[in-house]
Amino acid sequence: MAISEKMQDALNDQVAAEFYSAYLYLAMSAWLHSADMPGAANWMFVQYREELSHAEKIFDFVVEREGRALVKGFDAPPVEWDSPLAVFEAAYEHEKKVTAMINELVSLAREEKDYATEFFLQWFVTEQVEEESSVNAIVQQMKLVQGSKNGLYMIDRELGKRTPASATSEE
Ligand code: FEO
Repeated sequence: MAISEKMQDALNDQVAAEFYSAYLYLAMSAWLHSADMPGAANWMFVQYREELSHAEKIFDFVVEREGRALVKGFDAPPVEWDSPLAVFEAAYEHEKKVTAMINELVSLAREEKDYATEFFLQWFVTEQVEEESSVNAIVQQMKLVQGSKNGLYMIDRELGKRTPASATSEE
């Protein structure tokens, strides 16, 4: 059964939102490099790649359901933050918004009695729990060291270990 136009449009909007997330994290990665936090910049770059894969997953699903996938535009993300902590706090706030968007999509799928889309979205529901939790863990660590250079150095070293493969195994 082909996807409804309403569900298709909402998923196309989510593709754009995932691309926005990707660009936001790429902008954060750039800022973290400029703040001499190469490990945190690496973590954000891996996150950027993950967001691209989220966009692709939804795009593929729309096509598979005989929908019309559209590539829409999105706003430019911010480029400046006050501190590494501010970057991760902003990322955490952003992920909470994405969770709300995914929940809205699930509600719409239920309204439309589109069980295939509802089932497809379950992966994203679980993914959002992991994404919020991993970003919040970094926020808490950064709060704990209260901006101390040594503390930030240790955190940065840990964040530098993240690879696309380790990000996948976090799922
Ligand atoms: Fe695509 Fe970070 O959620």
